[in-house]
Amino acid sequence: MNHFLDINATDPAELRGMIEAAKSMKNARNGRPKGALDDEQPLKDHMVALIFEKPSTRTRVSFDVGVRQMGGQTMVLSGADMQLGHGETIADTARVLSRYVDLIMIRTFEEQTLLEMAEYASVPVINGLTNRTHPCQIMADILTYEEHRGSIAGKKVVWCGDGNNVFASFAHAAGQFGFDLVFSGPSTLDPEMGFIEEARAKGVNVDIVRDPVAAMTGADLVVTDTWVSMHDPQSARERRHNQLRPYQVNEALMAHAKDDALFMHCLPAHRDDEATSAVMDGPHSVIFDEAENRLHAQKAVMRWCLGR
Ligand code: CP
Ligand code: NVA
Repeated sequence: MNHFLDINATDPAELRGMIEAAKSMKNARNGRPKGALDDEQPLKDHMVALIFEKPSTRTRVSFDVGVRQMGGQTMVLSGADMQLGHGETIADTARVLSRYVDLIMIRTFEEQTLLEMAEYASVPVINGLTNRTHPCQIMADILTYEEHRGSIAGKKVVWCGDGNNVFASFAHAAGQFGFDLVFSGPSTLDPEMGFIEEARAKGVNVDIVRDPVAAMTGADLVVTDTWVSMHDPQSARERRHNQLRPYQVNEALMAHAKDDALFMHCLPAHRDDEATSAVMDGPHSVIFDEAENRLHAQKAVMRWCLGR
């Protein structure tokens, strides 16, 4: 049994195996209807709980569809409607759910909730986003980059904006998949230095470059995300917007990246804040492939978790 808690907590060879499995499972579907079963049904007779303590469109639908394509069944649970949201401990919730289901995916606030769920569950637990990281997203992003441009190893990935949970998982991935990473944002919104130091210790270059034009030079992949994450107080919105405006990914900034650079955004986006519609809908953008690839990447993650 394997938990999928973070990219840095998973062996690089296992991560590579999941990406390759996702590629071949995606190819094997070969344009069939979304509701059609896969040829193989590794989750047949399996029940999966999908717990959401925060809103979601992509994570919720892609996990649900992925389980069903692999022959399993799902239940989508809102944290607020569970006893978990009314004082029952995470440990007890984990032990009880483990009696009913074969796999748990949870989207929550504190990382500690995820870790406790994994500690007390006797079934695999998958991180569907915490305030700190979003590993499933970056598995989909690696898959997307490699489908379009081949191996991501040695490439230059530039993150423009807030040093948030999605950036943190990119930093984890830089160390595990061997690509260079640049963070370009205001010092007030820097990521935790620990993420950067950990990646550097694995031999990749991770730099902080305040000037977005300088950061962008030579980029193979440009990534941004919302300026106000779900866990950020709305009261910080105006201040964040003022600080982050110079880091908006627009056509003028994108022009400094390599000609064949890709643009990614995990979505949901606030169009014309962190990125303009011209970029999001432009020739570099692969944002909807990224969204689709949540499905394929997570199917591979679930198979790995269940050893199937
Ligand atoms: N990218 C992502 O996780 O989207 P949702 O919040 O819609 O799940
Ligand atoms: N950083 C964003 C990602 C949403 C998928 C958030 O946490 O709200």
